[in-house]
Amino acid sequence: MTELKRRAFLKQLAAYTGGVVVAPIAVSCGKSIPSVPTAGSLKADAMAGAEQAVMPEVPLVRPADWDPIAFNKKRGILGAIPASYHADINGLDGEKKHLGKHLPYVPGVDAALVPEGFVPLMWGDPSLGYAKHPNAPKGDPTYPKGHFYDWIQLRKATAEEAEETDSIFGNWPIPEADDNGQLTVFGDGEITADSGKNTVYLVGKPADVVSGDVVRIHGHCLYHGEYVDFITI
Ligand SMILES: [Fe+2]
Repeated sequence: MTELKRRAFLKQLAAYTGGVVVAPIAVSCGKSIPSVPTAGSLKADAMAGAEQAVMPEVPLVRPADWDPIAFNKKRGILGAIPASYHADINGLDGEKKHLGKHLPYVPGVDAALVPEGFVPLMWGDPSLGYAKHPNAPKGDPTYPKGHFYDWIQLRKATAEEAEETDSIFGNWPIPEADDNGQLTVFGDGEITADSGKNTVYLVGKPADVVSGDVVRIHGHCLYHGEYVDFITI
């Protein structure tokens, strides 16, 4: 476990003090790393009515019938999304205002803002009718821990051996000194404008990924859980 991953993991352990369950996910090098425990996600109430249901595995390659809304909804209800958010994702417009809001896309950001070796990502593609994901700093009245993605994994969508990057974000809008993820802003405004909805996450690009590749994005929002999608970069 790298120092960054260890640090992120310890942060998550500190944040989630109850009902911690660890499930393995496969990574490219063949080892298993602990999946992030989501707040209360695997408590008994979340599993009511789904006693034998198993959280679907995260595929390496985009399935022919890939439906990110359906996949993340199912995986979310089974533990990847905190129970406190289930009413929202199941509610009216839940697909666009809550599930879609947490799905990644590559914004048409000024290339000069993207350092070599990074991929720009935003969440909630307006062109698909999704709400844009807001961000909030630590100490926010609604989101005391801060509302942002604290880790994002990126891997080429292939069944073959591939590198997977883990980008860590310990703070928003100014990353912590030892974060390996970076932040910038889409457009000319401040990153904090419009509830942080123009925040661009700069995520590490694996050495085996080139422009035009389909990649798998697996990210974690501090308050709303894990989301997976396949996009072309
Ligand atoms: Fe969120």
